[in-house]
Amino acid sequence: GAPVTVNVSKLEPGQQMTVEWRGKPVWVVRRTDEMSERIQEMNDRVKDPLSEEASQPEYIDGELRTLKEGYSVLIGICTHLGCSPQYRPEVGPADLGEDWLGGYYCACHGSKYDLAGRVFPNQPAPTNLEIPPHRYDDEFTLTVG
Ligand code: FES
Repeated sequence: GAPVTVNVSKLEPGQQMTVEWRGKPVWVVRRTDEMSERIQEMNDRVKDPLSEEASQPEYIDGELRTLKEGYSVLIGICTHLGCSPQYRPEVGPADLGEDWLGGYYCACHGSKYDLAGRVFPNQPAPTNLEIPPHRYDDEFTLTVG
């Protein structure tokens, strides 16, 4: 599949947009500073904090899993059986519990991921959400693929 280029300048803080690449949904989120802090709070609560088992480009590292600070790019497909999880950035919603700090919830079999797509321990999903190859051609021009 061909690379896909999108302009991310219209994304509001906390907002997610979906881009289709190779028939898959790719999620782009503009993170608030608070969201980045919440991801770091999750470091000792996720299964693979440094994404050592995850499928992601080698130029992505660290807990925040970003190429460009404040933006995340994830493939929106659960690593269990391929459903597309829901974006649930809010803290402590009634259905996910008061210790939920925002993330992704897969309604098919209940897998939970944090805002960086890092899976919780003991979930049906074995690994963190994938990160596709991507680059920024300038400040707001993202190319996936
Ligand atoms: Fe997501 Fe099974 S496909 S939990």
